[in-house]
Amino acid sequence: MSKDALFQDVIRKRRSVRKFEPGRSVDRDVLQRIVDCGRWAPSGANVQCWDFVVVDDPAVRDRVMAVFLRQAQRLVDHAKGFPAVKKTYLANTIAIIFVLGDPRWKACFPQATSEEWDAEYRANNEAIFLCSLGAAVQNIQLGVAAEGLTSAWLSGGGEDETNRELAEVLGYPVWMKAYGTIPIGYPAADQNRRYRRPLGQLLHWNGYQPHQYRLHAQVDFYESTLRPFAMYRDEETMTNWPDRDEMLGDWKEAFTGDITNPDHMLEAEADFSKPRIIGQATKRRKT
Ligand SMILES: Cc1cc2nc3c(=O)[nH]c(=O)nc-3n(C[C@H](O)[C@H](O)[C@H](O)COP(=O)(O)O)c2cc1C
Repeated sequence: MSKDALFQDVIRKRRSVRKFEPGRSVDRDVLQRIVDCGRWAPSGANVQCWDFVVVDDPAVRDRVMAVFLRQAQRLVDHAKGFPAVKKTYLANTIAIIFVLGDPRWKACFPQATSEEWDAEYRANNEAIFLCSLGAAVQNIQLGVAAEGLTSAWLSGGGEDETNRELAEVLGYPVWMKAYGTIPIGYPAADQNRRYRRPLGQLLHWNGYQPHQYRLHAQVDFYESTLRPFAMYRDEETMTNWPDRDEMLGDWKEAFTGDITNPDHMLEAEADFSKPRIIGQATKRRKT
Protein backbone atom coordinates (compact mmCIF):
# COMPACT_ATOMS: atom_id res chain seq x y z
CA MET A 1 0.00 0.00 0.00
CA SER A 2 1.39 3.43 -0.87
CA LYS A 3 1.96 6.01 1.85
CA ASP A 4 -0.83 8.13 0.33
CA ALA A 5 -3.27 5.24 0.43
CA LEU A 6 -2.47 4.79 4.09
CA PHE A 7 -3.21 8.44 4.77
CA GLN A 8 -6.54 8.19 2.93
CA ASP A 9 -7.36 5.19 5.10
CA VAL A 10 -6.75 7.16 8.27
CA ILE A 11 -8.94 9.99 6.97
CA ARG A 12 -11.78 7.54 6.30
CA LYS A 13 -11.24 5.62 9.50
CA ARG A 14 -11.65 8.72 11.65
CA ARG A 15 -15.19 8.31 12.86
CA SER A 16 -17.31 9.70 15.67
CA VAL A 17 -17.80 6.62 17.78
CA ARG A 18 -19.78 6.98 20.97
CA LYS A 19 -19.42 3.47 22.30
CA PHE A 20 -16.12 2.24 23.71
CA GLU A 21 -14.89 -1.06 25.11
CA PRO A 22 -14.84 -0.90 28.89
CA GLY A 23 -11.81 -1.69 31.02
CA ARG A 24 -9.12 -0.72 28.50
CA SER A 25 -6.13 1.55 28.95
CA VAL A 26 -3.30 2.94 26.86
CA ASP A 27 0.28 4.09 27.42
CA ARG A 28 0.98 7.78 27.84
CA ASP A 29 3.39 7.50 24.87
CA VAL A 30 0.41 6.92 22.62
CA LEU A 31 -1.45 9.90 24.08
CA GLN A 32 1.63 12.06 23.67
CA ARG A 33 1.90 11.12 19.99
CA ILE A 34 -1.76 12.02 19.55
CA VAL A 35 -1.34 15.42 21.20
CA ASP A 36 1.73 16.01 19.07
CA CYS A 37 -0.54 15.77 16.02
CA GLY A 38 -2.54 18.68 17.50
CA ARG A 39 0.67 20.61 18.06
CA TRP A 40 1.43 20.45 14.34
CA ALA A 41 -1.93 21.91 13.27
CA PRO A 42 -1.90 25.19 11.36
CA SER A 43 -3.07 28.38 13.09
CA GLY A 44 -3.57 31.99 12.02
CA ALA A 45 -0.27 33.94 12.39
CA ASN A 46 1.12 30.72 13.90
CA VAL A 47 -0.26 31.82 17.28
CA GLN A 48 -1.05 28.26 18.41
CA CYS A 49 -3.97 29.60 20.41
CA TRP A 50 -4.55 26.31 22.18
CA ASP A 51 -3.63 24.15 25.14
CA PHE A 52 -4.38 20.45 25.34
CA VAL A 53 -5.49 18.97 28.63
CA VAL A 54 -5.35 15.17 28.68
CA VAL A 55 -7.39 13.42 31.33
CA ASP A 56 -6.37 9.81 31.89
CA ASP A 57 -7.11 9.63 35.63
CA PRO A 58 -10.43 7.80 36.11
CA ALA A 59 -11.34 10.01 39.09
CA VAL A 60 -10.99 13.20 37.01
CA ARG A 61 -12.71 11.51 34.07
CA ASP A 62 -15.72 10.75 36.24
CA ARG A 63 -15.99 14.40 37.28
CA VAL A 64 -15.79 15.39 33.61
CA MET A 65 -18.50 12.87 32.77
CA ALA A 66 -20.75 14.39 35.43
CA VAL A 67 -20.29 17.79 33.76
CA PHE A 68 -21.31 16.33 30.40
CA LEU A 69 -24.34 14.54 31.82
CA ARG A 70 -25.53 17.92 33.13
CA GLN A 71 -24.71 19.48 29.75
CA ALA A 72 -26.82 16.84 28.01
CA GLN A 73 -29.72 17.50 30.36
CA ARG A 74 -29.50 21.23 29.60
CA LEU A 75 -29.69 20.37 25.89
CA VAL A 76 -32.86 18.40 26.56
CA ASP A 77 -34.28 21.29 28.61
CA HIS A 78 -33.25 24.19 26.40
CA ALA A 79 -32.51 22.90 22.91
CA LYS A 80 -34.89 19.99 22.60
CA GLY A 81 -34.94 18.07 19.38
CA PHE A 82 -31.23 17.85 18.68
CA PRO A 83 -30.29 14.18 18.22
CA ALA A 84 -27.94 13.05 20.96
CA VAL A 85 -26.54 9.90 22.51
CA LYS A 86 -26.41 9.42 26.28
CA LYS A 87 -22.97 10.49 27.45
CA THR A 88 -22.51 7.70 29.99
CA TYR A 89 -20.20 6.16 27.37
CA LEU A 90 -17.56 8.58 28.66
CA ALA A 91 -17.03 6.14 31.53
CA ASN A 92 -15.33 3.79 29.06
CA THR A 93 -12.79 6.23 27.66
CA ILE A 94 -9.09 5.57 28.00
CA ALA A 95 -8.53 9.33 27.96
CA ILE A 96 -10.32 12.58 27.17
CA ILE A 97 -8.44 15.40 25.45
CA PHE A 98 -9.65 18.98 25.82
CA VAL A 99 -8.68 21.55 23.22
CA LEU A 100 -8.72 24.88 25.05
CA GLY A 101 -8.96 28.06 23.00
CA ASP A 102 -7.01 31.06 24.35
CA PRO A 103 -8.74 34.20 23.03
CA ARG A 104 -5.86 36.59 23.83
CA TRP A 105 -4.12 35.46 20.66
CA LYS A 106 -6.84 36.97 18.47
CA ALA A 107 -4.96 40.25 18.97
CA CYS A 108 -2.29 38.87 16.62
CA PHE A 109 -4.68 38.55 13.70
CA PRO A 110 -5.32 41.54 11.39
CA GLN A 111 -6.74 44.49 13.39
CA ALA A 112 -8.76 47.35 11.95
CA THR A 113 -7.06 50.72 12.10
CA SER A 114 -10.37 52.63 12.18
CA GLU A 115 -13.82 52.20 13.79
CA GLU A 116 -15.32 51.80 10.35
CA TRP A 117 -13.62 48.47 9.76
CA ASP A 118 -13.69 47.21 13.30
CA ALA A 119 -16.71 44.90 13.00
CA GLU A 120 -15.40 43.34 9.80
CA TYR A 121 -11.97 42.48 11.20
CA ARG A 122 -13.35 41.39 14.56
CA ALA A 123 -15.63 38.89 12.83
CA ASN A 124 -12.74 37.63 10.76
CA ASN A 125 -10.52 37.33 13.86
CA GLU A 126 -13.15 35.11 15.40
CA ALA A 127 -13.30 32.97 12.26
CA ILE A 128 -9.50 32.59 12.18
CA PHE A 129 -9.47 31.69 15.88
CA LEU A 130 -12.19 29.04 15.58
CA CYS A 131 -10.80 27.58 12.35
CA SER A 132 -7.37 27.22 13.98
CA LEU A 133 -8.91 25.35 16.91
CA GLY A 134 -10.90 23.18 14.48
CA ALA A 135 -7.67 22.24 12.69
CA ALA A 136 -6.15 21.18 16.02
CA VAL A 137 -9.16 19.05 16.93
CA GLN A 138 -9.12 17.45 13.49
CA ASN A 139 -5.40 16.65 13.72
CA ILE A 140 -5.95 15.03 17.10
CA GLN A 141 -8.83 12.94 15.81
CA LEU A 142 -6.68 11.80 12.88
CA GLY A 143 -3.85 10.98 15.28
CA VAL A 144 -6.29 8.88 17.28
CA ALA A 145 -7.38 6.99 14.16
CA ALA A 146 -3.75 6.41 13.12
CA GLU A 147 -3.17 4.71 16.50
CA GLY A 148 -6.03 2.27 15.86
CA LEU A 149 -8.20 4.00 18.43
CA THR A 150 -11.37 5.96 17.98
CA SER A 151 -12.84 9.19 19.30
CA ALA A 152 -15.67 11.66 19.17
CA TRP A 153 -15.75 15.45 18.94
CA LEU A 154 -17.90 17.06 21.59
CA SER A 155 -18.69 20.74 21.32
CA GLY A 156 -20.64 21.12 24.59
CA GLY A 157 -17.58 22.60 26.33
CA GLY A 158 -18.14 25.68 24.18
CA GLU A 159 -21.38 26.38 26.06
CA ASP A 160 -20.79 28.95 28.84
CA GLU A 161 -22.17 26.97 31.77
CA THR A 162 -20.42 23.75 30.75
CA ASN A 163 -17.16 25.63 30.24
CA ARG A 164 -17.48 27.16 33.72
CA GLU A 165 -17.90 23.70 35.21
CA LEU A 166 -15.02 22.23 33.18
CA ALA A 167 -12.74 25.12 34.15
CA GLU A 168 -13.48 24.33 37.78
CA VAL A 169 -12.76 20.60 37.38
CA LEU A 170 -9.65 21.06 35.24
CA GLY A 171 -8.30 24.28 36.75
CA TYR A 172 -7.88 26.46 33.65
CA PRO A 173 -8.85 30.16 33.59
CA VAL A 174 -12.54 30.43 32.82
CA TRP A 175 -11.93 32.94 30.03
CA MET A 176 -10.33 30.14 28.07
CA LYS A 177 -12.82 27.77 26.55
CA ALA A 178 -12.97 24.03 25.91
CA TYR A 179 -14.07 24.30 22.29
CA GLY A 180 -13.25 20.67 21.62
CA THR A 181 -13.63 17.68 23.92
CA ILE A 182 -12.31 14.46 22.43
CA PRO A 183 -13.17 11.24 24.27
CA ILE A 184 -10.87 8.44 23.15
CA GLY A 185 -11.27 4.69 23.41
CA TYR A 186 -11.32 1.34 21.70
CA PRO A 187 -14.44 1.10 19.52
CA ALA A 188 -17.11 -1.23 20.88
CA ALA A 189 -18.94 -1.17 17.57
CA ASP A 190 -17.62 -1.34 14.03
CA GLN A 191 -18.65 1.99 12.50
CA ASN A 192 -16.69 2.26 9.33
CA ARG A 193 -19.05 4.32 7.31
CA ARG A 194 -21.09 7.47 7.73
CA TYR A 195 -23.20 9.50 5.30
CA ARG A 196 -21.22 11.72 3.00
CA ARG A 197 -22.47 13.78 0.09
CA PRO A 198 -21.35 12.33 -3.25
CA LEU A 199 -18.09 13.86 -4.50
CA GLY A 200 -19.70 15.03 -7.73
CA GLN A 201 -22.18 17.06 -5.74
CA LEU A 202 -19.74 19.13 -3.74
CA LEU A 203 -16.75 19.37 -6.06
CA HIS A 204 -17.08 22.48 -8.27
CA TRP A 205 -14.53 22.77 -11.07
CA ASN A 206 -13.31 26.28 -11.90
CA GLY A 207 -16.12 28.12 -10.18
CA TYR A 208 -19.33 27.52 -8.29
CA GLN A 209 -21.75 25.41 -10.34
CA PRO A 210 -25.40 26.47 -9.81
CA HIS A 211 -26.70 22.96 -10.57
CA GLN A 212 -24.84 21.84 -7.43
CA TYR A 213 -26.44 24.53 -5.26
CA ARG A 214 -28.65 23.21 -2.44
CA LEU A 215 -31.95 25.02 -2.03
CA HIS A 216 -33.00 26.51 1.32
CA ALA A 217 -35.77 23.90 1.33
CA GLN A 218 -33.20 21.10 1.11
CA VAL A 219 -31.46 22.43 4.21
CA ASP A 220 -34.86 22.62 5.92
CA PHE A 221 -35.60 19.02 4.98
CA TYR A 222 -32.30 17.80 6.39
CA GLU A 223 -32.83 19.74 9.63
CA SER A 224 -36.39 18.62 10.14
CA THR A 225 -36.29 15.04 8.91
CA LEU A 226 -33.00 13.45 7.87
CA ARG A 227 -30.53 14.76 10.45
CA PRO A 228 -30.52 11.98 13.09
CA PHE A 229 -30.30 9.30 10.39
CA ALA A 230 -27.49 11.04 8.52
CA MET A 231 -25.64 11.44 11.82
CA TYR A 232 -25.89 7.90 13.12
CA ARG A 233 -26.63 5.44 10.32
CA ASP A 234 -23.69 3.29 9.29
CA GLU A 235 -23.94 3.97 5.53
CA GLU A 236 -21.96 6.28 3.29
CA THR A 237 -24.79 6.80 0.83
CA MET A 238 -28.49 7.27 1.45
CA THR A 239 -29.03 5.06 -1.60
CA ASN A 240 -28.29 2.12 0.72
CA TRP A 241 -30.97 3.06 3.23
CA PRO A 242 -33.65 0.36 3.05
CA ASP A 243 -36.35 3.01 3.58
CA ARG A 244 -34.77 5.56 1.21
CA ASP A 245 -37.85 6.10 -0.96
CA GLU A 246 -40.09 6.79 1.96
CA MET A 247 -37.48 8.87 3.81
CA LEU A 248 -36.28 10.97 0.90
CA GLY A 249 -39.41 11.31 -1.23
CA ASP A 250 -38.89 14.05 -3.83
CA TRP A 251 -35.49 14.85 -2.33
CA LYS A 252 -33.90 11.56 -3.43
CA GLU A 253 -31.87 12.94 -6.33
CA ALA A 254 -30.80 16.01 -4.37
CA PHE A 255 -29.34 13.87 -1.59
CA THR A 256 -27.95 10.97 -3.58
CA GLY A 257 -27.07 12.38 -7.02
CA ASP A 258 -24.81 15.06 -8.43
CA ILE A 259 -27.52 17.51 -9.47
CA THR A 260 -29.18 19.16 -6.51
CA ASN A 261 -30.67 22.09 -8.37
CA PRO A 262 -31.85 21.22 -11.90
CA ASP A 263 -33.26 24.75 -12.41
CA HIS A 264 -29.85 26.34 -11.78
CA MET A 265 -31.53 29.12 -9.79
CA LEU A 266 -29.66 30.56 -6.82
CA GLU A 267 -31.64 32.05 -3.93
CA ALA A 268 -31.23 35.30 -2.03
CA GLU A 269 -29.89 35.45 1.50
CA ALA A 270 -32.48 34.79 4.18
CA ASP A 271 -32.37 34.60 7.98
CA PHE A 272 -29.99 31.66 8.40
CA SER A 273 -29.72 32.07 12.17
CA LYS A 274 -32.61 29.75 12.91
CA PRO A 275 -34.45 26.88 11.25
CA ARG A 276 -37.22 27.95 8.91
CA ILE A 277 -39.60 25.07 9.53
CA ILE A 278 -40.41 22.77 12.39
CA GLY A 279 -40.39 19.18 11.31
CA GLN A 280 -40.27 15.71 12.74
CA ALA A 281 -36.91 15.96 14.48
CA THR A 282 -37.63 19.31 16.10
CA LYS A 283 -41.37 19.11 16.60
CA ARG A 284 -41.23 19.91 20.29
CA ARG A 285 -39.42 23.18 19.78
CA LYS A 286 -41.40 26.22 20.89
CA THR A 287 -41.64 28.98 18.30
C1 LIG B 1 -17.64 21.34 15.25
C2 LIG B 1 -18.22 19.98 15.57
C3 LIG B 1 -18.99 19.80 16.69
C4 LIG B 1 -19.49 18.53 17.03
N1 LIG B 1 -20.16 18.37 18.21
C5 LIG B 1 -20.54 17.13 18.58
C6 LIG B 1 -21.12 16.91 19.87
O1 LIG B 1 -21.27 17.84 20.68
N2 LIG B 1 -21.49 15.63 20.19
C7 LIG B 1 -21.29 14.59 19.36
O2 LIG B 1 -21.63 13.46 19.72
N3 LIG B 1 -20.75 14.76 18.12
C8 LIG B 1 -20.37 16.01 17.73
N4 LIG B 1 -19.76 16.18 16.50
C9 LIG B 1 -19.56 15.03 15.61
C10 LIG B 1 -20.49 15.04 14.40
O3 LIG B 1 -21.80 14.70 14.77
C11 LIG B 1 -19.94 14.05 13.37
O4 LIG B 1 -18.67 14.50 12.99
C12 LIG B 1 -20.81 13.93 12.13
O5 LIG B 1 -22.07 13.41 12.45
C13 LIG B 1 -20.17 13.04 11.06
O6 LIG B 1 -19.85 11.77 11.59
P1 LIG B 1 -18.36 11.19 11.57
O7 LIG B 1 -17.52 12.11 12.41
O8 LIG B 1 -18.46 9.81 12.15
O9 LIG B 1 -17.89 11.18 10.16
C14 LIG B 1 -19.26 17.44 16.16
C15 LIG B 1 -18.50 17.63 15.01
C16 LIG B 1 -17.96 18.88 14.71
C17 LIG B 1 -17.09 19.04 13.49
